[in-house]
Amino acid sequence: MSDNAPPKPRVYILDDEIVTVRRLVQALAKDGCEVEGFISAGEAMSRIAEHPPEVLVTDVRLADADGMEILQRVGMLAPQTKVILMTGYAAVDHAVQAMKAGAFHYLAKPFKLEELRNTINDALRYPGKSGPDLADTGPVDRFAGIIGGSPAMQEIFKTIRQIAPLNCNVLIQGESGTGKELVARALHHTSDRAQHPFIPFNCGAFSEELVANELFGHEKGAFTGAVSTKLGLLEAAQGGTVFLDEVGEMPIPMQIKLLRVIQERTLLRVGGVAPVSINVRLIAATNRDIDKMIAAGEFRQDFFYRLKVVMINIPPLRKRQEDIPLLVDHFVTLIATQFGKPVPEVAADFSAMLSAYSFPGNVRELQNIVERAIALSREPVLTARDLPPDIFFAETQPIPPEKAASHLKVLEQEHIVDMYRRTGFNQTETARQLGISRTTLWRRLKDLNLLSEK
Ligand SMILES: Nc1ncnc2c1ncn2[C@@H]1O[C@H](COP(=O)(O)OP(=O)(O)OP(=O)(O)O)[C@@H](O)[C@H]1O
Ligand SMILES: [Mg+2]
Repeated sequence: MSDNAPPKPRVYILDDEIVTVRRLVQALAKDGCEVEGFISAGEAMSRIAEHPPEVLVTDVRLADADGMEILQRVGMLAPQTKVILMTGYAAVDHAVQAMKAGAFHYLAKPFKLEELRNTINDALRYPGKSGPDLADTGPVDRFAGIIGGSPAMQEIFKTIRQIAPLNCNVLIQGESGTGKELVARALHHTSDRAQHPFIPFNCGAFSEELVANELFGHEKGAFTGAVSTKLGLLEAAQGGTVFLDEVGEMPIPMQIKLLRVIQERTLLRVGGVAPVSINVRLIAATNRDIDKMIAAGEFRQDFFYRLKVVMINIPPLRKRQEDIPLLVDHFVTLIATQFGKPVPEVAADFSAMLSAYSFPGNVRELQNIVERAIALSREPVLTARDLPPDIFFAETQPIPPEKAASHLKVLEQEHIVDMYRRTGFNQTETARQLGISRTTLWRRLKDLNLLSEK
């Protein structure tokens, strides 16, 4: 729990497995929550009426109630309480319904404690963002760990909800860093394959023979060195999802082989004669224009059609600027918590400068920027000064005259900041390398707002 979180948040755990309740209660109590555990809905509801918690973490299937009933009752008894549902893998539809009815989030079992912690932290930070009316009347700005309030992202959430339970292959397109893998994982985790493996495979990272070997596996003796039978990724993912990343890089002969796997639902291991039946969902991703590749004979059209049964296009971040503040907020909390630092506040100039930036590296770049700012900042507030010089100085919007320092001055500042960082914030060393006195350096750093209060 961060220093900025409300003192001792109250969290209730409800599950009819006493072992689960005990484990979660102990773990969250250690984190500094005020935790109580319940094994029946009736018991939990009377306690909630008496003393509502900030968060209720509950299984969706209890002996004396299901998720929908619990949501309804909590909605009446304690509308401010955020409900996090825990579901078994078969209950996905149920969970989606429950989210629509106002659950804050749901976690597919088994989940890592860390996931639960993050979700609780999110719930604590979003007062009033959940509630029975929310899902029906307005969009939610996150889904399965994906943040986005823009119409484009809302549409993507809708598509994921619709197609996750289906078995169709999906092709995800988007520039680097837009969240293609995140969307692929969300599809997997909200599907009924969630309890089976999700296996990513980078199609560009291997030569043709190796791709076959990795995906299809081989029989013992298939080639020199094949001393034992090896399962390929497609077999290892049985029942689950294989994520074909950078699918545009896949060698054509391999595309033909995979097409056959899709059509016949069987494969031959390298050197094998007996077909192995395969049940996997393929989700592919690319940042290339496959239509152009097809025209150029670099990609098989028949394979493409089998992959893109559903297509999801993730627009670059610069085309959905309204997502930037949400993402900044999200990463600030996430990263500060990961670093074990108090969650800093975000000053308006920090947000404003990021909102004006074009993010060629998309969300990944934004994440890196926030990570760097939090790592380097020693203040409780993140300001524009915590941004990397290239963004800080990239501001091409009209600058008020008093800020329009000469280009030379800007370069100088940039150089100082850079050197200061490279010396690990050692002032003596920075001054030495720049050939200026410590006092001059001190004055410049102070101008730049880069001195922490001692
Ligand atoms: N909408 C989002 N909400 C929260 N986190 C996001 C979002 N989009 C991307 N991220 C984060 O940004 C990083 C990059 O995302 P991801 O790896 O999914 O991108 P990608 O499109 O696969 O990139 P590449 O083409 O470079 O492989 C990840 O850490 C991911 O969690
Ligand atoms: Mg990726």
